[in-house]
Amino acid sequence: MKIQRAAVIGAGAMGSGIAQVLSQAGIEVLLKDVSQEFVERGLSNIKRMYDSRVKKEVMTQSEADYRFAMVKGTTSYDGFNEVDLVIEAALEQIAVKLEIFAELDKICPPQAILATNTSALSISEIAASTKRPERVVGMHFFNPAQTMKLVEVIPGIKTSVEITEQAVALCRELNKIAVKVEECPGFLVNRLLFPYMNEAQYVLQEGNVSMEEVDQAVVGLGLPMGPFALFDMTGIDVCAHVNDFLYNQYGPRFQPNKLLNLLVSKRQLGQKTGAGFFLHQKGKPAGKDEPKEINPELTKLLNELTKSSPQPKSSGQFDAYRVLLPMFNEALYAIQEGVVKPADVDVAMKWGCGMTKGILALAEEKGFAWCLSQLDQYQSELGERFRPSWYLRKLVAAGVKSFTELERTPAAVS
Ligand SMILES: NC(=O)c1ccc[n+]([C@@H]2O[C@H](COP(=O)([O-])OP(=O)(O)OC[C@H]3O[C@@H](n4cnc5c(N)ncnc54)[C@H](O)[C@@H]3O)[C@@H](O)[C@H]2O)c1
Repeated sequence: MKIQRAAVIGAGAMGSGIAQVLSQAGIEVLLKDVSQEFVERGLSNIKRMYDSRVKKEVMTQSEADYRFAMVKGTTSYDGFNEVDLVIEAALEQIAVKLEIFAELDKICPPQAILATNTSALSISEIAASTKRPERVVGMHFFNPAQTMKLVEVIPGIKTSVEITEQAVALCRELNKIAVKVEECPGFLVNRLLFPYMNEAQYVLQEGNVSMEEVDQAVVGLGLPMGPFALFDMTGIDVCAHVNDFLYNQYGPRFQPNKLLNLLVSKRQLGQKTGAGFFLHQKGKPAGKDEPKEINPELTKLLNELTKSSPQPKSSGQFDAYRVLLPMFNEALYAIQEGVVKPADVDVAMKWGCGMTKGILALAEEKGFAWCLSQLDQYQSELGERFRPSWYLRKLVAAGVKSFTELERTPAAVS
């Protein structure tokens, strides 16, 4: 189905970015929020995005004006009976989303695609608030939506193959890269990032390496920034919440280090409060090559934590794979569950979080057998966070060196 008219619900950070992307692709957009003030704020964000394209000379002023005029702000559902697509990007609260989808079900044409940009809520549950769950799909854009290329396309349990394929095709039209991910907590990118970011805190608590050394080690392997800089940028409260959620869903592999919640209790939330792992000018990221100043409150909290909650220590010297192996292992759990095709994992990690190589490529360079022996060693010293997936054991037992050797993988079969 050719999408000509769309609606976006929620004119906040994500909704305005998504509306810009749709309008740039020549799709008319109704941008809905709860008050005129929020609608206006969203529209001026979009205007700013177009202005910046003109300034960078990737678009002429008249083209920008024409595209911007394709977005109409609204506080009502008028016109929703004519849209081919809705992307919901309202608050991340299940009650809000259930109410919106029940309303959309009443108003939108029967053939419309109903998509949600939720970061973590259940697509299947949202779909169940409509009488057409087969037409509801997750389209998880990354922030900022107007520049980040990746969209995770997540079918709910009743979503039809046709709608999932239409969502993937739409991403291509929007000049995005779609990766299909079966519904699971954290979807793919967050599910893989959190075990890595969590492990970085355990490393810090061991006290043998500094934050900058950890950050530099992973940047040396092609990550755009280290875990501590990423915590500060994302917001420590948001990260603590997601990690606790993933721990509840997956259990011991996500056992959260206590540091994040201690930082939250002291309102040390990262860039937005001016202090997290590092000190910041409030709300402003430090330049890439600027030296980072460690937050003295963090040092105090770490000392307290080491006394109150001692952790087992690794016998070996720190290397970046200590924090990357949990990411790799989680990727294999996701593959073993049929959540994602191996070929899509590195695509997602490259376009969703800026890795130059991707986690499977990094593991293949070291060898799957080496990765397994390291995970076994860390598991015996540090516990369940490192329990290797049985899929990795199977790969090693079969002497597989790369996923490209395999004709058949769990996600390919499903
Ligand atoms: N910010 C991110 O990094 C990010 C990334 C991916 C996905 N998401 C998801 O996208 C969604 C929006 O996130 P955001 O960061 O843009 O939030 P935001 O707070 O910037 O914007 C949300 C907007 O939705 C509006 N809204 C609330 N209830 C509404 C309703 N019933 N009808 C219409 N509008 C309503 C609010 O007034 C607000 O303007 C959330 O589900 C979030 O989890 C966020």
